[in-house]
Amino acid sequence: MSKGKKDLQKKLNTLLAVWKVNQAITSTLKTSRVLSQTMDAVTDVMKADAVTIRLLSRDKKRLVLKAGKGIVKEHRLGKRSIRADDGVAGETLSKNRPTISGNILKDKRYTYFPWLKREKLRSLLCVPLTFKDRRIGVLSIYNKKPSFYKKEDRETVTMFANQATIALENARLFEELHKNYLSTIKTLAAIIDLKDKYTRGHSEKVSYYSLLMAKELGLSQRRQELIQYAAFLHDIGKVGINLAILQKPGPLNAREWVVIHQHPLNGSAVIKQLGFLRELVPIILHHHERYDGKGYPAKKKNNEIPLGARILAVADAFDAMTSTRAYRPALSKKKAIEELERNKGTQFDPLVVDAFLSAIAKKRK
Ligand SMILES: [Fe+2]
Repeated sequence: MSKGKKDLQKKLNTLLAVWKVNQAITSTLKTSRVLSQTMDAVTDVMKADAVTIRLLSRDKKRLVLKAGKGIVKEHRLGKRSIRADDGVAGETLSKNRPTISGNILKDKRYTYFPWLKREKLRSLLCVPLTFKDRRIGVLSIYNKKPSFYKKEDRETVTMFANQATIALENARLFEELHKNYLSTIKTLAAIIDLKDKYTRGHSEKVSYYSLLMAKELGLSQRRQELIQYAAFLHDIGKVGINLAILQKPGPLNAREWVVIHQHPLNGSAVIKQLGFLRELVPIILHHHERYDGKGYPAKKKNNEIPLGARILAVADAFDAMTSTRAYRPALSKKKAIEELERNKGTQFDPLVVDAFLSAIAKKRK
């Protein structure tokens, strides 16, 4: 093959690898996967014997190793961080441009990791990871042959570095958003619990039991999260109910029941207003339906009731039974389990009850 053809083939291969990374990156928001996919692609295209990705610490003083590939003593890498102005990586970061070392054994800038030199790595090409003028880290590729990387390779590795940066930023923003989302939900749940001294901590416990069941039933991560959030907020509709009714020591009269029966409707109406929580609406709306169709508000039965709501019903009942209420003392867990068993197929979905019982049995082991 002529040199021109070879060059063209190489460029095509590079573009294909960049495109593949791009596809992979846009399909995941998990930082660890973004890092490993970038490293795989760059190793392939650049024939690297080792690749490392370091990110700046919060105080910007250290470059912390986030991922490494192709190094025998990889497990030691995880603990390593270097000064942000140290070595070739430091120079790359401070000058904000790619740096090449033809032989790290002879390079005075290469001051760190004496044991990495023992890995017989010689050539190094290090490029900055920069997001909108903000430096976030460096990507380094190594080869065992000296002077392996040339000036023209800087462009290719920079392409991977740019993709990795965008993906890392997306992942970071997504993780941040997720944290904010969860803390908003927990704040709302705390407001619900504050209202009634008897149900304090109820949202937290219902959420815990619901998640146990969702996991036991093998639901996806996303559905597990939705059910967990809905569990935190299931009784938000009770915020508007008079305490005299909520904490009434005796049985409720017909008018009071009407008020209580409104809370799934009121709660789901509130949640509907919050666009980012809209997916929780059906779970909250139907958490008091019964498997036999005798619940409220829609008298749905069996699989017409969303699975999340069937799960929530079991968690809600179990925590309610095992907690003290204004009108009765707490049941023991053993008694509460007997009640769940007794109401399998009438009040509760039998499969969900079984999942709950096997999940808590595992917890006890
Ligand atoms: Fe409720």
